[in-house]
Amino acid sequence: MNKKKTILILPGDGIGPEVCKPAKNILESVSHIYDLGLSFEEALVGGSAYEETGIPLPEETLEAARKADSILLGAVGGHQWDELEYQYRPERALLGLRSELDLFANFRPAILSKYLTSSSSLKPEKVENLDLLIIRELTGGIYFGEPRGRKEDKPVAFNTMIYSQEEIERIGRVAFEAAQKRNKNLCSVDKANVLEVSVLWREVISDLSKEYPDVKLSHMLVDNAAMQLVREPKQFDVIVTGNLFGDILSDIAAMMTGSIGMLPSASVNSENKGMFEPVHGSAPDIAGKGLANPLATILSAAMMLRYSFGFEEAASNIEVAIDKVLAKGYRTHDLEGSQDTQLSTDEMGKKVLDNLKN
Ligand code: IPM
Ligand code: MG
Repeated sequence: MNKKKTILILPGDGIGPEVCKPAKNILESVSHIYDLGLSFEEALVGGSAYEETGIPLPEETLEAARKADSILLGAVGGHQWDELEYQYRPERALLGLRSELDLFANFRPAILSKYLTSSSSLKPEKVENLDLLIIRELTGGIYFGEPRGRKEDKPVAFNTMIYSQEEIERIGRVAFEAAQKRNKNLCSVDKANVLEVSVLWREVISDLSKEYPDVKLSHMLVDNAAMQLVREPKQFDVIVTGNLFGDILSDIAAMMTGSIGMLPSASVNSENKGMFEPVHGSAPDIAGKGLANPLATILSAAMMLRYSFGFEEAASNIEVAIDKVLAKGYRTHDLEGSQDTQLSTDEMGKKVLDNLKN
């Protein structure tokens, strides 16, 4: 029996609860199969926490997150909270968790299942067997830089894009090490033709590359990277970039995998403790209708087993089960497919569960 591990589930808003439910069922099932000793707790986050407690990230939730061995988050946000003041917005909870737990390294793999080639928005030959990894710095940059705010007397607002050498170095190391385990190609994305912060980024990453002579490093400007991603995505192996650029590029990469409903993510600190969440948002327009694709969350749960706990066999059991379900033609509404194999959120979760190897 493995040492007991507590997983905090933060379902959040919109489709968050719907996609967390099947992911939790699957985690329970693999815990049983492999005797992993997983146990679960749940807490409020985002808009639903605001409704109950008046704040999006209650102290209780933060405490539970600090104590837990790992966290699975659904999604936060919704139009009903769009007008709230900055510190009450659901997104603050996500940013608060990231910074309080120092989850600086965000892994966003974009892997196209061979069964979904036709669901991609790009031509099949452009994306066939696509497997790229975006590593996004998650606790710095313009998301957290000070000063930020609005001028009192004028309609002027500002944010600060700031990175220190240490911050660039630690995300750089994560990226070089990830590239070493893959095809040893690392592309660092910045805007060094305009921004000082990017000039420093480029210097630090270039210096660091001397410690990783087996990894081929290239640099690309972010506007070009956006274009190259849709022009020839298979040229990339690992991309490393700052917080804002990573946010944008990972949505672009997501669409190549057929649907943003397919993309998992891991956000980890230096001890590999992390928060695992689908890249998609709360999708209020389809919430409660059984239309959401739970696979990104289920894949995030698999990433948790692998990255945080080293339960490789359990993680790949889940991934193989998903592949089997897709191979049989089953699809959720966001993926192209025929009417008679279209499944609801719960049905898709159940199919994956049924295809786990016991
Ligand atoms: C993401 C999301 C978040 C971000 C939002 C919801 C704050 O878009 O995780 O990509 O911008 O980081
Ligand atoms: Mg985003």
